[in-house]
This record gives sequence, structure tokens and C-alpha cells, in this order.
Amino acid sequence: MALKLLSIVATERKKGNSVLASMYIAKRLNAELEIVNLTKMEIKPCKACYRCLYGEDCKIEDDVESIFEKIDWADAVLIVSPVYWLDATGKLKALLDRCFMSIRYFKQFSGKRAVVLTPYGFEGMKGWASATHLVLARILGFDVLANIELRAALPAEIFTDKETFEKLNLAANLLEKGERAVLDHQCPVCMNIIFRIRDNNLECPVCGSLLNINMELVERGERFSQKWVVEHFSVELIGLKERYKELKDELKEAAKIAEHI
Ligand SMILES: Cc1cc2nc3c(=O)[nH]c(=O)nc-3n(C[C@H](O)[C@H](O)[C@H](O)COP(=O)(O)O)c2cc1C
Repeated sequence: MALKLLSIVATERKKGNSVLASMYIAKRLNAELEIVNLTKMEIKPCKACYRCLYGEDCKIEDDVESIFEKIDWADAVLIVSPVYWLDATGKLKALLDRCFMSIRYFKQFSGKRAVVLTPYGFEGMKGWASATHLVLARILGFDVLANIELRAALPAEIFTDKETFEKLNLAANLLEKGERAVLDHQCPVCMNIIFRIRDNNLECPVCGSLLNINMELVERGERFSQKWVVEHFSVELIGLKERYKELKDELKEAAKIAEHI
């Protein structure tokens, strides 16, 4: 029987990198794919009433419970969603904020294989979105096999950027074999990539592990300075649109990889 693969995405791009990555991995695994696109779902804010912690049903009427039902259906899960302003997209965070009520599923979902994939557009601007994605995966109880950031700005660039495509294949291989891979500079315990300082050590804010390293300023970062904002908007972002016009046909062709491999 085909593996039932659920992909949780939160982007409006119909054939963007998150959707194409999901389709590609499903094809590679001969899996039955269901994509839950959070941007199409109603996810209201948590009321912080704590009722669900005492076993009561959530009183909020929206689509959140149906997302948990879809997860229950799946044998394996992808969380594949882009970086927006260094973080996860709002809709993904909206789901995470409702995850007091998912605690009743924690045991049930434990052991479901999952891979976290985070497409981002700009080297150096990956931010901490993958950490937020990882928190969602962990609080849902998933057995996270890998946490992989994929450089791809334009839709279908996950297939045209060689290094990114290799990482996508790695994700498929790990999911297929049920193997876990900790990549460079990731927390060896939970695969998070963002750290805090505690007692001259690095603390992983996701799982709480403590790692050792020296922290001295080597280069001052200028992000969000006026100069950076002007350059990012008027050069990098406008430039992307021009690049898309140039590469449009090539990217449309590349997107077909998700359907025919
Ligand atoms: C509003 C917005 C904010 C973004 N912010 C970032 C960012 O902070 N860092 C980054 O590397 N890419 C950023 N990107 C680029 C996306 O992460 C990138 O294009 C990604 O491939 C989109 O995934 P998708 O095709 O699945 O929607 C942003 C894109 C948008 C539309």
C-alpha cells in the first residue's frame, strides 16, 4: 500500500517551491500525497482559556481540528513552508499558537516520520523560520528525520539550483529509509539551527541542549539599517522580478520535474 504523505504548507504560491517540493518527494516515494495549505484554512487565534488542557474540546469554530484529523490519516509528514521576514509565515505560526489543543494527539502522532523543509530566497536571510517549523513538528510529536533549508527564491528554483536539488533528494532518501541526518551546525539533539548564549555556552532554545563555543564579534551585521533596506527593496527584490521575467520559461519547464520523474 502506498505511503500516505501529508504536507503542511503555508504559502499562497500554487506552484511555488513548497508545493513543488511536496509533489516531488511524493513522486519519489510513490506516496499518496495530500497537501494541507494553511493559507486556505481558517485558523483563529488561541483564546488562552486553557480548556483544552483539562480535556475539554476547543470552543473555537474553525479548521484546526480538521488539520489534526489529516495528520492522523498520514503515515509521514512534511512541514514545508517558506521564510517570510526571517520567520515562518503568519499562517504557520497561527497553527502553532493553537497547539495546546493538539496535545491530546501527541502520543498518537509520536513516531510519525517527518521532514522539515524551509525554502528561503536569500543567502544570509534564512533567519529562524526553520526553528519555528521544528517547534511545530516537535509539539505535534513527530519523529523528525531532518531539518533542511532550501535556497530557492523564484518558483521551481528548488529544481534548477543544483545544491538545493541535492538537499531535496536527501530529504526524500531519508524519509524513504526512515534515517535521521543532523546537518552541519545543527543542534545534535533536535537539529535546530538557532542558539542563545548561556554561561559561555550555546543553548538550543528548542530542546534546551547546551553546546560549547567562543562568541566574539568578527563582523557587525547591518541588516535593517537604512542602507540595507534601500538595497534590499530596490536592488534585490526588484531584481528578482526582472530575473523571473528572464527565467520564466526555464522555470516553468523545471516545475514539470515534480510531475514526471
Ligand atoms: C513577504 C515575503 C517575505 C520574504 N522574506 C524572506 C526572508 O526574510 N528571507 C529569505 O531568505 N527569503 C524571503 N522570502 C523569499 C521566500 O522565502 C522564497 O521565495 C521561497 O522560495 C518562497 O517559497 P514558496 O515558493 O513555497 O512560496 C520572502 C518572500 C516573501 C513573499
